[in-house]
Amino acid sequence: MIKVGDEIPEADLKTMNNTQVVDINTTSIFAQKKVVLFGVPGAFTPGCTLSHLPGYVQAYDAIMSRGFDTIACVSVNDAWVMQAWAESTSAINKVLMLADGSARFARLLGLDSDLSEAGMGVRFRRFSMIVEDGVVIELNVDGHYIESTSAEATCGL
Ligand code: BEZ
Repeated sequence: MIKVGDEIPEADLKTMNNTQVVDINTTSIFAQKKVVLFGVPGAFTPGCTLSHLPGYVQAYDAIMSRGFDTIACVSVNDAWVMQAWAESTSAINKVLMLADGSARFARLLGLDSDLSEAGMGVRFRRFSMIVEDGVVIELNVDGHYIESTSAEATCGL
């Protein structure tokens, strides 16, 4: 698993530009920026929709005032689902929604979790990290409950 002090590996993800699915590279997301990235088991799942993502949306101003450039959310879903999820949670223009549809980035980070028993296939573990200029300076991984990966706990709010 990626750890504090490691560089975020080079990877291509997908996001939406208006109605178009576009590639987005990790270098363009993280280079020369302070980013809080959190990963979730799935868009529209109850915990992620009722608590995890809204926590970051509500804390947007507080997080930005602490010098962050970007709040980003990644999940093993396609870019259209991530966009629809952002629209339904008021996350548009606040949270950069990153789609890792084939779980390649999840595996590359060692933050993948096999949820096949739940009919969900390989997904992200629930995690959060603070990344400065591409280097991980804080990493949190939660189990069942959203604790260390919440906006408040991750960003010290
Ligand atoms: C959730 O509610 O966040 C959740 C549901 C099923 C699997 C993983 C997460």
